[in-house]
Amino acid sequence: MRLIRQILTSFILVSSITSLKAQAIKWTEIEPGIWKAVAGSPEKFNLLTASGAVAAHAGLTDMGSTAFPFSATDISAKIIDGKTYLRFPLDRAERLYGFGLNFKTVLQRGKILTLHVDNYEGKDNGRTHAPTPFYISSKGYGVFINSARYIKVYAGSAVRTDSKNPPEVQDRNTDANWSAHPYSDGVEMLIPAEGVEMYVLGGPTMMDAVRRYNLLNGGGCLPPRWGLGFTQRVQRLSNAADVANEAKAFSERGYPLDFIGLEPGWQSKSYPCTFEWDKTRFPDPRTFVQEMLKQKVRLNLWTNPYISPEAGIYKQIAPYTGSHSVWVGAVADLTMPQARDIFFKELSTNKIDIGISGFKIDEVDGGDEFLWPDVATFPSGHSAEQMRQTYGLMMQRYVTQIYHERNERTFGLVRASNGGGSSFPFVIYNDYYDHRDFITALTNSGFAGVLWTPEVRDSRTAEEWLRRFQSNIFSPMAMINAWESGTKPWTFTEVAAQVKQMASLRMQMMPYWYSEFAKYHFKGIPPFRSMVLEPGFGDGELSKNEDNGNLKENPYGKLTIKEVKDQYMAGENLLVAPMFTGETSRKVILPKGKWFDFYTGKYAGNGEVISVTPGLDKIPVYVKDGGIIPMMPVMLHAPGKNEKVDLEMRYYGEKPGYYMLYDDDGETFDYEKGSYSFRQIKVELKNGTLKGTISAPAKGKPNTVGRIVFKKMG
Ligand code: GAL
Repeated sequence: MRLIRQILTSFILVSSITSLKAQAIKWTEIEPGIWKAVAGSPEKFNLLTASGAVAAHAGLTDMGSTAFPFSATDISAKIIDGKTYLRFPLDRAERLYGFGLNFKTVLQRGKILTLHVDNYEGKDNGRTHAPTPFYISSKGYGVFINSARYIKVYAGSAVRTDSKNPPEVQDRNTDANWSAHPYSDGVEMLIPAEGVEMYVLGGPTMMDAVRRYNLLNGGGCLPPRWGLGFTQRVQRLSNAADVANEAKAFSERGYPLDFIGLEPGWQSKSYPCTFEWDKTRFPDPRTFVQEMLKQKVRLNLWTNPYISPEAGIYKQIAPYTGSHSVWVGAVADLTMPQARDIFFKELSTNKIDIGISGFKIDEVDGGDEFLWPDVATFPSGHSAEQMRQTYGLMMQRYVTQIYHERNERTFGLVRASNGGGSSFPFVIYNDYYDHRDFITALTNSGFAGVLWTPEVRDSRTAEEWLRRFQSNIFSPMAMINAWESGTKPWTFTEVAAQVKQMASLRMQMMPYWYSEFAKYHFKGIPPFRSMVLEPGFGDGELSKNEDNGNLKENPYGKLTIKEVKDQYMAGENLLVAPMFTGETSRKVILPKGKWFDFYTGKYAGNGEVISVTPGLDKIPVYVKDGGIIPMMPVMLHAPGKNEKVDLEMRYYGEKPGYYMLYDDDGETFDYEKGSYSFRQIKVELKNGTLKGTISAPAKGKPNTVGRIVFKKMG
């Protein structure tokens, strides 16, 4: 066997080294508009096998097929020196997006990256919480490399001597426009493995490619309704009484609260973790959890996966752990069923089985200084690198599976994910705390198949607190993470009323958020995403400007293109333009088509850059013409399973409005068996009077829609 492999490998080596021509790759359409190919001998363990993702065939069939976006012979692969070399063509005008959860930049063309799961350290260099090997081109296609390796990417930055479209040779002596970064006509990638599986996601639009990617992953996650409410994480060493008091304070003050997050102190020891309740702080976990549930407050438990030698499971799991510890805790080899049985049974026992609703899976990303090193080995034979790229994915997969088996949905937090993870009901967060960069991450999350929350922890001023809070409300998880600071929504008294108003707005908008997540699940449309995916946005303010035109001071400067990273789309109808501390006004780029102010319904503009001065109370939000936002009354907790709620359909603009309102029981996985409906809402203005209709409820399906009022805004 080994000999045959050696002969085969050397054959591939010889054939690739001797042939200067690109080898033809066979692309097979595996789902409508998705093509798969392999180069060399791909590894069995990859992002899709680690995540267990199964393509959402129904959603992909609905989209139909499309043209293969390349000339197949322009894509090349070679195996040299045990590594796979890939090259995809690039036109002069193409812009590239994606390559994971970036925090500072949206445009990725020209970048050199190493896609590597890591804690974000302030540089968009490929090391991030979700370094998804997926890129999207402005020409309307996507490329996904299904490898659990650290992938080196040259995203249009390198020039081959045999290039079909070589850059022009310039003379620096005479040419003032001489560039240190000549035009490159390819995206090149180096995968440290003797083969790889890759996918091309067809368009024709960028949004189509993104949708196909998410559907290939099984469709985006559908959180329970309560997951879209408000959540507060308490201080590290809080006890059962503190948590109960926290819930009481929220209720007495009238602030919404759906779940409370317990931080490391719920465990008897951490870190490393025992995964067992601390008997002094939580003497009777079962009663405590049940008492909280009676008050409609669910609980989410922090944990990292590093197993203390003092944990009850330590001895049993030890044979299935890696060679190196993390904070002196053992690292379970989650690729082994034996390790999984022990580890996830522990997370279930006295936790999920007494009513814990979810987890915050911490520190599965890195940094290098505390995580297992690349020289670590694991009993299954998977490398440290493969484990690093997939640990967050596997933790999400198996936690989700426990809840799935109980037919209860969960919604939690995780600090690392990767390609293959779109369907997991987890939101990424981190310790980095730059408000602007948090918003850029939100715009990029939609390209990476992940959800991201710009969490609020603490602030220097009331202004900063409110500004951060406002954008947090328009994100996948509305959360204060007070694990250290103990901050409450009302801590900054000057803005406590405004914060309460925003938290209440979050609750009112639940029918909208829920429907938009259903579109993520069934259609693959990311609920939070970049403006460039919005029709009519075009290139926004894209214009060439040199980062430093002075050749003397910056002789190797790059031509940069202005990118739009401080405003984003939230669901089908909303454009959100956060305000940052110190700002009293800002520019907002409105795509083509009429846009209306979310709060007043007043006309705001059409395909133009507007300047707004919203005041401290408001975050600028705009609704597209004909947009409908379904709202419910302010509730302090999400409606319960199958609970009927009255709705107000806010209608904006002039065009006839259509909206698909999603409905199901809100808590179980019965929707997977068809127990859901999309109800069509139509609104028209006829001679100045508003006429609204909703399609009849589907027979035998959950119906949580109570009375409906249609309201014209503005
Ligand atoms: C950090 C995490 C914080 C908090 C803290 C508790 O790693 O990012 O949100 O949970 O651990 O120790």
